[in-house]
Order: sequence, then structure tokens, then C-alpha cells
Amino acid sequence: MKIISIVNQKGGVAKTTTTNALGIALGSMGYTVLIIDLDPQGNLSMSLGVNFPDEEPFSISQLMLDIIDKKDINTTPFVKNKFGVDFFIGNSKLSMLDKMLPNIRGGEFILDEVLSKLNKKYDYVIIDCMPSVGLLTENALCCSDEAIITTEPQFFSMKGVQSLISEILTIKRRYNPKLVIDGILPTKVNIRTNNTKEFIKMLYEVFSKDLHIYDFIPLSVKISEASKGKNIYQDGKRCKGAVAYLNFVLEYIKRGV
Ligand SMILES: Nc1ncnc2c1ncn2[C@@H]1O[C@H](COP(=O)(O)OP(=O)(O)OP(=O)(O)O)[C@@H](O)[C@H]1O
Ligand SMILES: [Mg+2]
Repeated sequence: MKIISIVNQKGGVAKTTTTNALGIALGSMGYTVLIIDLDPQGNLSMSLGVNFPDEEPFSISQLMLDIIDKKDINTTPFVKNKFGVDFFIGNSKLSMLDKMLPNIRGGEFILDEVLSKLNKKYDYVIIDCMPSVGLLTENALCCSDEAIITTEPQFFSMKGVQSLISEILTIKRRYNPKLVIDGILPTKVNIRTNNTKEFIKMLYEVFSKDLHIYDFIPLSVKISEASKGKNIYQDGKRCKGAVAYLNFVLEYIKRGV
């Protein structure tokens, strides 16, 4: 079972879109996949067809709260989605959890404990992180084998990626030696602008010595429409965004980090 966190403390850089695209593609290739929405915004849950994540009793927040309360947990995930992957719903209870975790001994490892109850029954578990590196994201990184960093092509993002890498390496050193940064995925890229070309060039200059940089995902209207409860592969099999995501998934598998 390989556990992957999709991370960046910056908002709106396609973490949720990438989690969705990676999970659904791996599922359609025959792998067993569990997707976890670890963001109080519940965007991933909504994109997978849950209209009101706050009203769902079965959620990753509840499972983590039950672990904290030392209760037995039922890890039957939410499977009533139309895309063929299992998932754990995320909802606003997660923000309460994010505030509670610093006061709990071993608070970094609550999600790890939930996943240990799955008895390794998935090929891939993919975690959609929230836009901050608080204790919830630390929980994701403490149980992951890999982190994939998504980034938008903006110069401010470069510093953010640098500090995120150093945060991830700290977590690796302190808590989770098996954690590796699989790579950086540039998203929402309009390669026609000079600024964007400069950004991609700089990204390679700064990071490619140490990290893999995936081919970019282009800015695509079809992808932005998919966040409203559709999956990106449904409507636009041949749209450039969906093709780019499929190529990313194939490259991910081929690398087999
Ligand atoms: N390649 C793309 N082209 C166009 N729009 C995109 C692309 N990828 C993502 N988007 C859109 O950008 C917005 C932000 O994407 P997404 O929700 O995946 O980011 P996020 O990093 O998960 O955000 P947050 O930090 O708030 O959780 C969404 O409206 C999404 O549909
Ligand atoms: Mg998101």
C-alpha cells in the first residue's frame, strides 16, 4: 500500500484537482484506490459527489476523533461515488481537529493509526491536504510514503515551495524517515506567457538537481468545470488538461519511486 500526500500550503494550486485526477486514473487502470479528503473545506468530497459533507456522519474527521477517544473504528469507507474509487469524506470538523491535535500526545500520528486499521488493503491511498502546514497536514506527511507538491506558475510560489520542502524534510527527519518527495507538478500553466516560461525555467534551475519535475498541466477550462462534481476524464477525454493528467499518472507509475 503506497500512501501519497498532495501538498502545498498555498491555496488554489490544484491539490484537490490532482488528487482527484490521480485517484480516478489509477482506479480506472485497475488499482485499488482510497482517496482521503483531509481539508475542512470538503472540496474533494464535493467533487466526488457528496453535496453536504458536514451532514455526513461517516468522515475521516470522525474516524480520527474516535481514535483520539480510543474507540473502535469502522473503516468502511464511503463507496457510494460514481467514479470507482473509495474515499473518506472531509468536512468542517477537521478544523476543530486541527486545533485539538497540538494538545494531544502523539497528535501527529492519528491518521497513521486510522490507516493502520485498513490492513493494507489498497494499492494506493491518496491524501488531499489543506492549504497550510498545520497538524493535519503533518498527520498526512507522517503516514505517507511520498509527497507530491503542486504549484502554480507564479514567482511568489517559488519561495513557498522552498519552505514547504524544508518543512517536509523536517517531518521526514523527526517523524517519518520513509517519506520521500516524489516530485513537483506545475499546474494551471499557460505556457504562452513569458512570465510562465520564465517560471518553468527557474523551477528546473532551482529544484531539478534534487527533485523530479513533472511535465506541466496546462490551464484548461474543462478542468475548471470538472470541479463542479464531474471528473476531468468524463467530458473531455481528448481535452489537453485530461491528457496531461493521464501522462502525469503514467509517468508517476513508471517512476515507481
Ligand atoms: N489545470 C487547470 N486549469 C484550469 N483551472 C484549474 C486547473 N486545475 C485546477 N483548476 C481550478 O482551480 C481552482 C483551484 O483548484 P483546486 O481546488 O484543485 O486547488 P487546491 O490547491 O486544492 O485549493 P485549496 O488550497 O483551496 O484546497 C479550482 O476551481 C479548479 O477547478
Ligand atoms: Mg483543495
